[in-house]
Amino acid sequence: MRWMKLAAMMAVGGISAVAWAQPGKGGAADKLTVGFSQVGAESEWRTAETQSIRGEAEKRGAELKFADAQGKQVNQIKSVKSFITQRVNFIVIAPVVETGWEPVLREAKAAKIPVILVDRGIKLSEAGEKEDLYTTLIASDFVEEGRMAAEWLAKTTGGEARIVELQGTTGSAPAIDRQKGFAEGIAGHPGMKIIKTQSADFTRAKGKEVMQSFIKSEGKNITAVYAHNDDMALGAIQALEEAGIKPSIDVRVISIDAVKGAFESMVAGKLSATVECNPLLGPIVFDTIERLRAGQTVPRFIKQTDRLFDQKDAAEAIKTREY
Ligand code: AHR
Repeated sequence: MRWMKLAAMMAVGGISAVAWAQPGKGGAADKLTVGFSQVGAESEWRTAETQSIRGEAEKRGAELKFADAQGKQVNQIKSVKSFITQRVNFIVIAPVVETGWEPVLREAKAAKIPVILVDRGIKLSEAGEKEDLYTTLIASDFVEEGRMAAEWLAKTTGGEARIVELQGTTGSAPAIDRQKGFAEGIAGHPGMKIIKTQSADFTRAKGKEVMQSFIKSEGKNITAVYAHNDDMALGAIQALEEAGIKPSIDVRVISIDAVKGAFESMVAGKLSATVECNPLLGPIVFDTIERLRAGQTVPRFIKQTDRLFDQKDAAEAIKTREY
């Protein structure tokens, strides 16, 4: 027997709640089914997030219907529609971009399937906000991450830097917010200037390619690289080395994510620093689902806390890194 939804989603002062009844617990037909629409596999971080959500579903005996969107929103919309047709109990989305979600979220709402956003937020119209089209967002504060990167760079350069910026996927929440946070962080330092900025789509290959073009046009004028994720920074480091420029010595390189590859690079004296963005969201996603199934309220934004690591922390911290 399927669960019956008792109450529609309620939104009071930014708090959303869904109450569920679970008649006939324990039968195979009552198994929790979750549809997860993932961005793709563009970075080490993304792979860690996928593993965390998959692993947690397995641990809790839930059925996870996994759809890899290969970086395309159109694929995500298709898979969300298919989850609705399959009558999953919850839909989890890591949205590729911020806009364009309202029609499909309305379909999920009409089908009474709660939607949980993970790692990236979306932008809704005023009407969409009022309709309460998703239950909660479980993510880091990307603006804050950008600010932390800027503050570290300002401190270690004495407020003097000619920076090239490698942006994430155009239109995605982390690209928009990390750019904003960093710009805010350097605003009080007139000696810190972004001299070039371009998207490298969160991948190592594009990070290297875009960095090569920055080196070609700016050469020794560049004194710092700010990359919206570690993969792009690692690609940029390859480009710097191939051009005979010493990363972290001639040019400081700072990025976001704090994946294993970033720690290895810091230990090798290449990447200068990284701001953590926790991808191990599986446990919190399923805890949230359990709270909602129990009729509890959850906050609209479940914020993850991040910290910054630089080369002096790297050797010790790498020993216990989980991703
Ligand atoms: O949304 C999180 C970002 O997406 C990560 O920083 C990046 O590596 C990923 O692709």
